[in-house]
Amino acid sequence: MTVFRSVVRGVGSYLPARTLTNAELADMVDTSDEWIVQRTGIRERHIAAKGEKTSDLAIAAAKAALANAGMTAADVDLIVVATSTPDLTFPATATSVQAELGITRGAAFDLQAVCSGFVFAMATADQYLRSGDFKCALVIGAETFSRILDWNDRTTCVLFGDGAGAVVLERTEQPGTREDRGILVSRLRSDGRHRSKLFVDGGPGSTGTVGHLRMEGKEVFRHAVGMITDVIEEAYAATGYSSEDIDWFVPHQANLRIIDGSAKKLKIAPNKVVVTVDKHGNTSAASIPLALSAAVGDGRIKKGDLVLLEAMGGGFTWGSALLRW
Ligand code: UT7
Repeated sequence: MTVFRSVVRGVGSYLPARTLTNAELADMVDTSDEWIVQRTGIRERHIAAKGEKTSDLAIAAAKAALANAGMTAADVDLIVVATSTPDLTFPATATSVQAELGITRGAAFDLQAVCSGFVFAMATADQYLRSGDFKCALVIGAETFSRILDWNDRTTCVLFGDGAGAVVLERTEQPGTREDRGILVSRLRSDGRHRSKLFVDGGPGSTGTVGHLRMEGKEVFRHAVGMITDVIEEAYAATGYSSEDIDWFVPHQANLRIIDGSAKKLKIAPNKVVVTVDKHGNTSAASIPLALSAAVGDGRIKKGDLVLLEAMGGGFTWGSALLRW
């Protein structure tokens, strides 16, 4: 019996031109290149220019993804933007993307699951595509975390960067086996008891300000590997696949130690792990599509490859997705 699956048709990304190195940060706060590299693996990150908005990054990534897919905006009827740094409180940043692309049909909305945002957005779009409600989705992760950082707080300002990545997902009919192309399974989780461990201390309904990112880094770190590996094992159980079958592991890029720890616990070979955290820092919801774009662009991820995604972040939220490219 055939089934509908959401297949990735194209991927694209955009990084602001300005890079900020660890050495530059060491001139701003009491830190060093050595500390940042040893504890996180980060060497540099991109920072949006004055006036460059999250939607600008998202639109550039969306256009690149459509070009990569060989499709046009006229093909798209759903836009989901995962972001925690929207241009405005409302309307959704996705509506700016929609307007800029000249799309007047279908729906466009934002989704907020912090660093897990892209996995949540992809799973959400997948549900709508498989239900038959929509045919073709742009799923975008776009962030300007530089705008919500406390640039005097060395425990957080060295970790994050700006950027955007996008995929074009299209509903296709597939045979209905685990060899199908497209998203085979996704697993999403949240546990709001942890919400004060990683949060922004402002918002329209509380302080009336934008606020700054606050994090108990050690606490987040302590939970990360366990949560990540749990949802991946659930994806394995649902499909019968295991780490040996995975061609590429594309994790959320928060910290190289978390990525290495997760891969080691799952017994995923290091040469199958896509790492961009060294160049991008933690770009929250943008990190996975940025990493996908890098690995497709340099020829690592190819049609037919089995690709494993995972993310964990504020809330806490966490999730996994297993797809055949
Ligand atoms: O994407 C969302 C999920 N977020 C994450 O996954 C982040 C998870 N957490 C982490 O990645 C790590 O906990 C950090 C990278 C944030 C911190 O690494 P850590 O090994 O947990 O360090 P720590 O917080 O235990 O700090 C160790 C020391 C402290 O000094 P004392 O108390 O030992 O004297 C900190 O004050 O390092 C100090 N420190 C710094 N030193 C130089 C903290 N930040 C810095 C810094 N430069 N930027």
